[in-house]
Amino acid sequence: MAIQRVGVIGAGTMGNGIAHVLARCGFNVALCDVEQRFLDRGLGTIAKNLDREVAKNKITADDKVSTLGRIMAVVDRAKLADCDLVIEAATERFEVKSEIFRDLDRMMRPGVILASNTSSISITKIGALTGRADKVIGMHFFNPVPVMKLVEVIRGLATSETTFETVRELAVKLEKTPVEVNDAPGFVSNRVLMPLLNEAMYAVMEGVATAEAVDEVFKLGMAHPMGPLTLADFIGLDVCLDIMRVMQEGLGDPKYRPCPLLIKMVDAGWLGRKSGRGFYTYS
Ligand code: 3HC
Repeated sequence: MAIQRVGVIGAGTMGNGIAHVLARCGFNVALCDVEQRFLDRGLGTIAKNLDREVAKNKITADDKVSTLGRIMAVVDRAKLADCDLVIEAATERFEVKSEIFRDLDRMMRPGVILASNTSSISITKIGALTGRADKVIGMHFFNPVPVMKLVEVIRGLATSETTFETVRELAVKLEKTPVEVNDAPGFVSNRVLMPLLNEAMYAVMEGVATAEAVDEVFKLGMAHPMGPLTLADFIGLDVCLDIMRVMQEGLGDPKYRPCPLLIKMVDAGWLGRKSGRGFYTYS
């Protein structure tokens, strides 16, 4: 079945980025969140990011208008019922995702694929909540979604070949490069990235170097576009902590122990760029 209309659950950083790319590539999108103000903020971000693309001559001003015209913002999840595929990009908590996937399984047509943008939660476990585990898959995008080329496509234990192929083709239509990965805590991206960021935090905590110095080492010595502490602030320190905990629990190796400084900063509400303070301060 051809995919024409895609539901996106969650209008936050990842959800609005995914809706942006889908709509820019010609898909009709139903963007759903629990409150109108989250949808308004998400749509505002999409409009601003489309303006960047207009300013860079990547798209025309008319493309911006037609892209926004393809996005329908809804609070009522039932309005997603006629979608051909749904991508969930809600809060990274298993209880939140459980409720959403059980509900989607009840309301969507039997053939509809349910994808999750989870950054570390088991796709196999999410699939098992539904009566269609063969149609549940991970579609992990990267921030900023309109810019980053990767989609990590994660097969749960029961994910079918047809589901995998459909999602792989969708990623290509979104001008992304899909990379196939099996289900394991943190998949590949966060399994490797998060311990780097966590170790950079230990270096700061132990006084090996300042955050600025650690970041300079990675920008100038390893050509990373952002140093690890700037990147941690960009991702959100709460998100980094959640992912470290999923890996610590799922893999059991003490090397995944979250840095105590990270825990302390999250407890203080210093969540990085989004809260105005993390390893750096933002105005
Ligand atoms: N939407 C659309 N376009 C955007 C954008 C957005 N949100 N943000 C930046 N851009 C565009 C700019 O317009 C610019 O376009 P150009 O190349 O045509 O000029 C280009 O992206 C670069 O942006 P800037 O010049 O403003 O800034 P930088 O050169 O500093 O790049 C960056 C910004 C792309 C964010 C770069 O610093 C970068 O690549 N950082 C690393 C990001 C990263 O590692 N992301 C992955 C995080 S991990 C993750 O998401 C997984 C999760 O599970 C944790």
